[in-house]
Amino acid sequence: MTATPVPTDSEAAGLYLDLIAKMLTRYGFEGRNVTVRFEPRSYESYLWNLVRIATRDRDVRVVESGEFDAERRENGRDWPADAETMVGMKRLLNVRTCLESVLADGVPGDFIETGAWRGGTCIFARAVLKAHGVTDRTVWVADSFEGLPKPDGRFEADAGDEHHTKIELAISTEQVEDNFRRYDLLDDQVKLLVGWFDETLPAAPIEQIAVLRLDGDMYGSTIDALEPLYDKVAVGGYVIVDDYGAVKGCAQAVHDFRESRGITDELHPIDWAGVYWRKS
Ligand SMILES: C[S@@+](CC[C@H](N)C(=O)[O-])C[C@H]1O[C@@H](n2cnc3c(N)ncnc32)[C@H](O)[C@@H]1O
Repeated sequence: MTATPVPTDSEAAGLYLDLIAKMLTRYGFEGRNVTVRFEPRSYESYLWNLVRIATRDRDVRVVESGEFDAERRENGRDWPADAETMVGMKRLLNVRTCLESVLADGVPGDFIETGAWRGGTCIFARAVLKAHGVTDRTVWVADSFEGLPKPDGRFEADAGDEHHTKIELAISTEQVEDNFRRYDLLDDQVKLLVGWFDETLPAAPIEQIAVLRLDGDMYGSTIDALEPLYDKVAVGGYVIVDDYGAVKGCAQAVHDFRESRGITDELHPIDWAGVYWRKS
């Protein structure tokens, strides 16, 4: 099925985007399960690792049934078992607000997310462009598509980081493309950058960025995206940091980078975790 173009700024476009955001976060879906996270090195985590090893090639996950919790899903506090994004409604709305702001102000450039997981936030960005009839901007989807890297000793802040052990964060390119297809939003305005950020981003064929969204969790994954991409962000463009309030190393990378570049643009909170600034 091909998506029908939506008239720019129409009420229907707004309703389409609201609905897509609810679908992508599974907002309001009664009793959806949530992937369970075990404390590292706990007895449960040890048992779960054994199960994972025993069922390595199969899609076996631990989920818990629960009532839908609006507060958690609005603020991206859970890992929905099936949703295409974990960022929650407020951070999705922020993507829409930033994109609509650059469109209204004629700020040139593309959208890029560094750290896409199942692709939901990028799918939403593509939907926003579609709803506004934008045909000359690309959505770049940057990810290893195999989870987070093992700390390689380059950054002290990442020492002991265990994100790389979470296989739930390894989502293949095929799965992400299927997710785009589910919403009729996979087309030539969507480009995947496959590999580790420190290898793919410096050479990425991106000319200009209007909205840069960082969602790589770790210090290294944040700084490895900021260093090669920040200078491509147009004046008036936005830098969004998903994990600022959630992962200490990420916040430290943002502070270190801003200090090294003398960036004083105000940091605005989105929710308990996300922040953004507008490049002056
Ligand atoms: C928290 S998830 C992103 C969530 C996603 N933005 C959403 O909408 O739900 C982090 C993602 O970053 C990717 N990632 C983290 N560090 C990376 C790196 N250095 N290179 C490539 N991918 C990385 C992981 O593979 C994972 O998919």
